[in-house]
Amino acid sequence: MGTDKNSKPMNDTLGMPNKPVIIRKCTEEDLDGVMQVNLNELPEDYPYFFYKSLLDNFGDAFLVACDQEGKVVGYIMWRVEKVPSVDEFKIYKKGHLVSIAVSKDYRRLGIATTLLTMSMKEIKKYGIDEYVLEVRVSNTPAISLYKKFNFSIHSIKYAYYRDGENAYYMIRKAD
Ligand code: ACO
Ligand code: ZN
Repeated sequence: MGTDKNSKPMNDTLGMPNKPVIIRKCTEEDLDGVMQVNLNELPEDYPYFFYKSLLDNFGDAFLVACDQEGKVVGYIMWRVEKVPSVDEFKIYKKGHLVSIAVSKDYRRLGIATTLLTMSMKEIKKYGIDEYVLEVRVSNTPAISLYKKFNFSIHSIKYAYYRDGENAYYMIRKAD
């Protein structure tokens, strides 16, 4: 399996011997593959420098799922946002899930679950108080996934997306 000591072989746990997948930290060489998965699976696309800055700044929480040939079939990326808290002399830190996607042929195998489990541990190391994210109100699969991870709907961001769709703003305390 992978030579990187951070790699986690998943073929045993996935129960799909014909589709073994490795989850590991993203590298600069993976970014084209990450952008390709994003392009195929989500309407929100970002320029290269955006991915690169997330990798440079919050790389420990930027993970990819790769097939046996090393092709990226899934990714997750986060950033940390600092906001002054109202009632305390403290900077409040939010771990913001920027984007997660898994290629269609690799869905429902637990890849997103593993990406979230592993990256939430990593982003927590930045000292965050809570995890936050936006998701399209129509995105039932993703909303179910986040609810499984104990996120709850905090509010609605109206016309958050370019096409006018609303977003749920979902939050989970980092405990
Ligand atoms: N319908 C309902 N629930 C689903 C579905 C589905 N089609 N797919 C996943 N889920 C939920 C279920 O609760 C599932 O648990 P279960 O299988 O025990 O029922 C749970 O998610 C975990 O499933 P995984 O197999 O780990 O998820 P998967 O690897 O298939 O990836 C993902 C889920 C990332 C949402 C995938 O469907 C995808 O890439 N969708 C397109 C991109 C996208 O919508 N990304 C999220 C945008 S919001 C953001 O990035 C902040
Ligand atoms: Zn966001």
